[in-house]
Amino acid sequence: MRLRKIKNIEDKIAEHHQCLIDEPRDKKGKWQQVFRNGNEIYAEFGCGRGQFILALAAQNPARNYIAVEGRSSVMLRALEKAAKAKLDNIVFIKEYIHDVHEYFDKAELAGIYLNFSDPWPKGGHAPRRLTHGRFLSGYRHILKEGSCIEFKTDNDALFAFAKREFEKSGMPLLRSTEDLHCTDYDAKGVTTEYEDKFKAQGKTINYCMVLASVPVQEKTKTAFVRD
Ligand SMILES: C[S@@+](CC[C@H](N)C(=O)[O-])C[C@H]1O[C@@H](n2cnc3c(N)ncnc32)[C@H](O)[C@@H]1O
Repeated sequence: MRLRKIKNIEDKIAEHHQCLIDEPRDKKGKWQQVFRNGNEIYAEFGCGRGQFILALAAQNPARNYIAVEGRSSVMLRALEKAAKAKLDNIVFIKEYIHDVHEYFDKAELAGIYLNFSDPWPKGGHAPRRLTHGRFLSGYRHILKEGSCIEFKTDNDALFAFAKREFEKSGMPLLRSTEDLHCTDYDAKGVTTEYEDKFKAQGKTINYCMVLASVPVQEKTKTAFVRD
């Protein structure tokens, strides 16, 4: 994402203290206290300028959202949009996430969105991909039973990698397509900034939804069928 250098960026970010979480690790196990409404919490890792998650938050006032973005200049744009939108069901974390256990406790989240995640094309960098198995085992821990992960990307190699990692991690594919905008899936309704850019270039969008945390009775059923 190309952006010009912004002067006094950290001061400008600090102006948005009402929706930016200062010490997100301190909120581990306490995210419900942040929102104070008992509603379920969904997160997007790598939210960019926030187009997608801000639209979801506006559409779903009875859900809470946590938007995570590591790059300051990009996060500032998301925070500026959030301030204009005046939503009380979304907060932001300005960090590059390396280990989700640092921020979230068991079953704190009801869903995770990964949109146009950085591909890290060199094989040696694979563990940095947000769909690498090491991230997936963390997501399974922090998601409630029956929760889903939704993933969109323009990158065919990354999509193939992600599907292999989901399979290896025992996360069943509920939906998968190499051309999201030719389906009737709800996921095509709310687009991301990158999605709009790639669509405009005629690129098809890969999308999948996986069950991250299989309910106990489903596991038993599966085991029974296999036996
Ligand atoms: C290619 S952009 C996509 C942005 C947005 N999701 C979209 O679809 O328009 C990926 C973004 O993820 C952020 N990012 C990558 N790895 C991250 C991590 N581990 N934690 C937080 N943000 C991350 C990058 O800084 C970048 O802004």
